[in-house]
Amino acid sequence: MFANNNWYFVQAMEKQKSEFHYLVYNSIKELNIEDAALLVAAKKATENSFAGFSNFKVGAAARVEGVKEIMTGSNQENASYPVGICAERALLASVASKFGNKKITTMAISYVNRNKGKKSNEPISPCGMCRQALLQYEVNTKHPIRLILSGQSGKIIIIKEAGSLLPLRFDGSAL
Ligand code: THU
Repeated sequence: MFANNNWYFVQAMEKQKSEFHYLVYNSIKELNIEDAALLVAAKKATENSFAGFSNFKVGAAARVEGVKEIMTGSNQENASYPVGICAERALLASVASKFGNKKITTMAISYVNRNKGKKSNEPISPCGMCRQALLQYEVNTKHPIRLILSGQSGKIIIIKEAGSLLPLRFDGSAL
């Protein structure tokens, strides 16, 4: 039965496909003024990161519905490594704590890699744990979170809905 790789021809098995769409821009100049300002805020937020162990400073910035101020977060590491928190989850906790789960419309994420010989000109994408946390925030607020991903320069990725980073997601509806 396992002699070849044609497992999907076994009768009664259904093949499903999940597609993922995202937009790619070549520079910040191609973004509208609000998105460009949010990305600049995320880049600036890297300055408040504590990345004493990885030297990888991440910044995130969010637009919250009905709020003028741009909210920011950054990764905060710890000598006991797993205690550290990513920029995205620091930001989600901060927004929820201050505004009580108000809708986040867009989140920009940037970073600067301070390790020798490393560049910061490719977008990074949220880690698995942050994807799950972003999904929970979307579920709580019944609103998608648009993501803008970019390094300090170079191309920019825009994703319409953070939850789309998790195909076959666990959204709690089965609980
Ligand atoms: N990190 C973030 O803050 N966000 C990401 O999207 C990726 C990783 C942090 C965690 C850790 O402090 C450092 O970057 C290196 O992994």
